[in-house]
Amino acid sequence: MARKIIIDTDPGQDDAVAILLALASPELRVLGITAVAGNVPLALTQLNARKIVELAGRTDVPVFAGCDSPLARGLVTAEHVHGKTGLDGIDLPDPTLALQARHGVDFIIDTLRGEPAGTVTLVPIGPLTNIASAFRRAPDIVGRVERIVLMGGAYFEVGNITPAAEFNIHVDPEAAKIVFAAGVPLVVLPLDATHKALTSRGWVETMRALPGRCGQAVAGWTDSFERFDKDKYGNQGAPLHDPCTIAWLLRPALFVGREINVEIETRGEFTTGMTVADWWRVSGRPANALFINDLGRDGLFDLLSERIARLP
Ligand code: RIB
Ligand code: CA
Repeated sequence: MARKIIIDTDPGQDDAVAILLALASPELRVLGITAVAGNVPLALTQLNARKIVELAGRTDVPVFAGCDSPLARGLVTAEHVHGKTGLDGIDLPDPTLALQARHGVDFIIDTLRGEPAGTVTLVPIGPLTNIASAFRRAPDIVGRVERIVLMGGAYFEVGNITPAAEFNIHVDPEAAKIVFAAGVPLVVLPLDATHKALTSRGWVETMRALPGRCGQAVAGWTDSFERFDKDKYGNQGAPLHDPCTIAWLLRPALFVGREINVEIETRGEFTTGMTVADWWRVSGRPANALFINDLGRDGLFDLLSERIARLP
């Protein structure tokens, strides 16, 4: 039986690769994709999500627009990383797939109420506004979530948008606080792990050499996306953050982490949006997350190559 998931996303080139990986993997059944404001405003993230689904030939997967701004702050975007479209690197045609009329938060609530308890996994790979809004509006669904596997946070790797905070958490720390305190089993893929998921020129050229349009898109997105990280970190490749969540669902043995307490700072003058990860278990606070800090890079990229090659 395929694992049922909802992907909550702010595409973003790395979000796009994560969505393609999920759609190429028969172990997963994507019930729907909910867009959230993050890397770029909602009008673009929902459009990009529909372009990606159509690129993969999977217009059977419904796309919903969720929240257009964080719970309690102004929106911070990341065009400096993802470009003004949020999906720079290849020009995709406007989608024929219509946006669902239902709000993304309503879809999350309705799906968790409609599916048997404990059978739907949430995979947020952007700010946590939609997930937190669903939990606030419908507390009854919290106990029905199988698990949340999210990309966000950082500890030893420190922040990428401020010295203390990773982007997804930084954009909506109040939402993150709600999600991390909800009591749902959490798997956190922070920068400590995703900064080890670095692309290589060889892998990008392998993507470009694929016969299908999805391989071309992944190569183009990576060429665009990696410029920022190479300049900033001096790496030879770019971190594919969001695909690590889907890869964890498919090959958990590729990842190493620790069950620890993770709290979200929402009031720090310099540290708001920080994931305060109690890695050495000194706080006495109960563990609430599997905090991943290492991964098998080659195994991850072998999986990505094999699955993207399956797509048109
Ligand atoms: O910090 C990395 C995260 O922020 C990724 O999800 C990327 O897509 C951006 O949203
Ligand atoms: Ca993202």
